[in-house]
Amino acid sequence: MHQELEGKIQQLVELLRKSSKCVALTGAGVSTESGIPDFRGPDGTWKKYDPELSTASSFVLKPHQFWFLAMQFAGPLMRAEPNLAHQAMAELEKLGHITCVITQNIDGLHQKGGSQNVIELHGTAWRAVCINCGKKFSWQYVMDQMVPMCSPVPRCMWCGYILKPDATLFFEEIPQQLYQQCLDELNPCDLLIVVGSTLLVEPSGSFPEMIKKQGGKTAIINLEETWFDENADIVINGKASEILTKILQEIKK
Ligand code: APR
Repeated sequence: MHQELEGKIQQLVELLRKSSKCVALTGAGVSTESGIPDFRGPDGTWKKYDPELSTASSFVLKPHQFWFLAMQFAGPLMRAEPNLAHQAMAELEKLGHITCVITQNIDGLHQKGGSQNVIELHGTAWRAVCINCGKKFSWQYVMDQMVPMCSPVPRCMWCGYILKPDATLFFEEIPQQLYQQCLDELNPCDLLIVVGSTLLVEPSGSFPEMIKKQGGKTAIINLEETWFDENADIVINGKASEILTKILQEIKK
């Protein structure tokens, strides 16, 4: 491993050792090595599809089109397995170095990888919710409706209205209680490690700034530059799986 990179990893290991409460904020980049594309990277989903398709208004106006696309993404997402980055974060939690993972991802891979305290800020692909009565349904229920009956949209078994994935669409509000859970984890928090996110989507895009203002440290692990890099205490450009595995090895020494 490159000497400069090793140095930065050592710095982060030191911060982790000293930290009394470290939170990890993850984005789509943590799951690309599990075969799930990110959104804004070179092969990102928004390079192939119009993000407009993922807005709340588009869902209401064209639910058939939305579900047609959702079903294409669902297969790879449901079959994906956690990679070394998810596993290293779970191990760091077990060792007491990470208190909580706040993730923007809806794939459930942190939990599958063994993390216990996970806040899914953008919801989950593993559930659907009725847009009328709010009842929640498992992904299996959705599949049972869509696949054998070739139904264009899944419907609520109680009121018959259309179901929506239990995930936040563009221009939809994050539930206040979820946001509050994040604030409770972030205050106090003396180290925030961002992994695999451009930090371009709110509210998580503002979390690093929030931690800095509180006097905490911030670290970024990402393949590419992010807008927050110049304000971060440590920036490590590389693959999340490699960097986090190395951090885990070092911290165990
Ligand atoms: N290791 C480290 N970084 C990676 C890796 C990897 N293996 N693979 C990709 N990345 C980086 C990319 O270079 C990119 O900078 O992860 C970042 C992913 O950024 P985005 O695609 O913008 O994903 P994210 O920040 O999670 O997006 C936030 O946008 O469209 C919405 O709701 C969607 O939750 C998502 C939100």
